[in-house]
Amino acid sequence: MSHDHENPAPEFDETIEHTENAKLMTDDEYYPYLTKKKVRPAMWRWRDIEPPLQEVAKDPLRRADRRFLSLVNTDTGEAGGALPSVFLGIQIINPGEHIVPHRHNSFAIYHIMQGTGYSVLDGKRFEWERGDTFVCPAWAFHEHFNSGDEQAIQYVMQDMPARAMERNLIWEEPVGNTFHMVEGNRPHQD
Ligand SMILES: [Fe+2]
Repeated sequence: MSHDHENPAPEFDETIEHTENAKLMTDDEYYPYLTKKKVRPAMWRWRDIEPPLQEVAKDPLRRADRRFLSLVNTDTGEAGGALPSVFLGIQIINPGEHIVPHRHNSFAIYHIMQGTGYSVLDGKRFEWERGDTFVCPAWAFHEHFNSGDEQAIQYVMQDMPARAMERNLIWEEPVGNTFHMVEGNRPHQD
């Protein structure tokens, strides 16, 4: 029995015979092409991090949605990581502030450097204080509250550069608003 009337042929704009980005390479050509720039060790001093972090903490335009400094090793080039597959960031949250719920398909590891508060990860509340570590799996909703009376500082590691290099980095923020980074969208755009 034919179902052609229920499954019409897909529509398309044009038929492609050749794309200019499709190459064939011999080993002699490919391995030099594949060779990456050496990534040098890098170090960020707290004395250099803290002043701009405090500037970020003052910014009223951020609406307490995210107060972040990214630690970028420029040797990672397009990856934009501290290492080619690793993102490092320092997040500061003022007393009483709430980092709104969101999720991404990069995982996140948090270490609390200062302050007290709690995070809601996948609907469960996790209290934290200085010295604590917790992880947020990929695509789990998370939000953070500073419930103490001093600034909270979180050290955050993600595999965001790896996802970005694979062109599959996806965010949902705010809830219900999904971005695919390759399409030119990104969080925190006004
Ligand atoms: Fe996040």
